[in-house]
Parts: sequence; C-alpha cells; structure tokens
Amino acid sequence: MVLLFIRHLDIAIKKHEIMSVIGWIKRTTLIAIAISLEVAVMLWLMFYFFTETLILTLTPTFMRTQKSLRGKVVVLTGGAGGVGQELALRLARANAKVVLWDINEEAMVKVKDNLEKEGHQVYCYTVDVTDRKNVYKNADLVKQEVGVVDILINNAGIVCGNTFLDIPDYMIEKTFQVNILSNYWTVKAFLPDMLRKGKGHIVTVSSLTGMLGTYKCTDYSATKHATIGFHESLHTELKTHGHRGISMTIVCPYFINTGMFAGCKPNMPMLTPREVSKRIITAIKQNEVYVTMPTWARFVLPLKQ
Ligand SMILES: NC(=O)c1ccc[n+]([C@@H]2O[C@H](COP(=O)([O-])OP(=O)(O)OC[C@H]3O[C@@H](n4cnc5c(N)ncnc54)[C@H](O)[C@@H]3O)[C@@H](O)[C@H]2O)c1
Repeated sequence: MVLLFIRHLDIAIKKHEIMSVIGWIKRTTLIAIAISLEVAVMLWLMFYFFTETLILTLTPTFMRTQKSLRGKVVVLTGGAGGVGQELALRLARANAKVVLWDINEEAMVKVKDNLEKEGHQVYCYTVDVTDRKNVYKNADLVKQEVGVVDILINNAGIVCGNTFLDIPDYMIEKTFQVNILSNYWTVKAFLPDMLRKGKGHIVTVSSLTGMLGTYKCTDYSATKHATIGFHESLHTELKTHGHRGISMTIVCPYFINTGMFAGCKPNMPMLTPREVSKRIITAIKQNEVYVTMPTWARFVLPLKQ
C-alpha cells in the first residue's frame, strides 16, 4: 500500500515537472519573441532616423523647407551680448518680434537703438535670468505687452576661466545659475503656452565644451554638458507625449570672438558672432535638433569614447 502510494506520488511529481518544463518553455519563447520584436523595431527606427539624418545633412540648405519667422514673438536671453546682438539683428530683419532679455540694461539700450535705426521695433526687458520670480514676472509682462511667445532662445551665459582650485565658490554657483538653472525657469515660463498652441521652438545655446571637457572650464563645461542633458531629456519627453509641433534646437559652437574667452589662444581661429548667429537662424528655420560649429565636430567628438 505504501509502495503504491509512493509510486503514484512519483508519477504526479514527474507529471508536474513536465508541466512546469512546458510552462517554462512557453514563457521563454514568448519573452524571446517579445525581445526579438523590440530589437527589430529598434533596428528599424535606427535605420530610419540614421537615413533621415544623412539625407537632411546632405541636402543643401536652399533645398530644405524653411520656417518663416515673420510675426513670431522671440524671447532672446543675453540679447545684449556678442552673439545676442547679431541674433537680434537677424531675427528683426526676418520680421520677427524681437524681445531682448538681459541683465545689462545699458548694452541692451544700445542694441535697441541700432535696430531702431534700421526701422525695427524691439522690446527690451531688464531681467536677471537666475532670479526665478523675476523670470516669471517678466514672462507675464511679455505675454501681455507683446504676445504669446513662439520661440525662446536661451543664450545668456558666463564663464570664469580659471583652473578648478582657483574658481571662487560663488562663481561656481553663479555659472550654474546662469548657464543651466535659468533654462529651467525660462522654459517653465513659456512652454505651457507652446503646449496649449501645439507649436513653439526652444533653442539652447550650448558649446562644444558641453561635448568635451576643456581646460580651465570645470564649471563652464559642466554647465554646458548639463544643457545637452536638459535638451535631450526634454526633447524625449515632448516626443513621447506627442507634442510634435514643438521643436528643440541645441547649438554647440567652438570659441567665438565676443570677448567671453578673451586671452584664450585656441588652435583654430575663433568663430565670429555673425557666422554663429547666421547658423542659429538657419537651424531654427529648418527645425534642426543638433548643431555643432564646425559641423565636423559632431562626427569627430564621439571618438573620445
Ligand atoms: N564666446 C564663446 O567663445 C562661446 C563659445 C561657445 C558657446 N558660447 C555661448 O554662447 C552664448 C553667448 O555668448 P557670448 O559669447 O555672446 O557672450 P557675451 O558675454 O558676449 O554675452 C552674454 C550675455 O549674457 C548676459 N547675461 C549674463 N548673465 C545674465 C543674467 N544673469 N541674466 C541675464 N543676462 C545675463 C550678459 O549681460 C551678456 O549680454 C553663451 O551661452 C555662451 O556660453 C560662447
């Protein structure tokens, strides 16, 4: 009797084992199919986006669709600086409604006078972009006085230019506040309207030092790396949530002879604010996501890995 019971038990266990082996095979097969499908979709998307990038990169500018800037309300931070002035001029010439934000009121008035001499109307606001409340208050003023903002260009920036131990603590904090934290406040101030309208454009002026750590730039370079992380993450969020009408552009230029890096002797000649601003305008008109100056840097810099 006992032997019979043990035998039945043995058969039941074996049967159970066979069932669980079949279950395991089924589960593993389903997981393998799911993974294969995901890999196939990923490969297809990689192929699609790579081909799209290649075609767009090789297509001459005059053959690409250009967005009109006429009547667009553009907020430009750091609008009184080297790159800012040139950008303001080009935006005004493209008939955009230019709104300058800068902490340097005197320099901003000069830019305004120059543009008005050419017959353009410019709106100026003295804003410290590191001051969150000041940013929100002035954003509301712009909406009331000029209109809902179509394009935001985060261009304000500072650099200290010292080796790590020689950078005063307050300068490290300030560099982070101006170069990256301010972007959170400005984007928070203007993105909700863009989402409501279903269109808009956020432009970030970063730097090649945001792709490659640079001598005497432990603070500056880190903030510019952060702008790239900010840009990529926000871009992914917007795409994931289906906000395809909102474009994002990040611009990473090499040294520009605006005086920001005065005294620095780079290996290649510095870029001019004129060529940088011209490139930024083209990037905005073509809804480009990544811009490096010079262009080849974008293909060479990944080699650092
Ligand atoms: N000059 C370069 O070599 C170089 C290279 C790559 C990227 N960049 C980036 O290009 C952008 C423009 O640089 P630039 O060369 O025209 O510099 P710039 O110093 O000529 O202009 C910067 C402007 O930002 C303004 N600003 C600074 N702090 C501010 C604040 N708290 N609130 C509001 N405005 C403030 C300044 O008053 C100034 O008008 C910056 O983001 C910079 O990091 C510059």
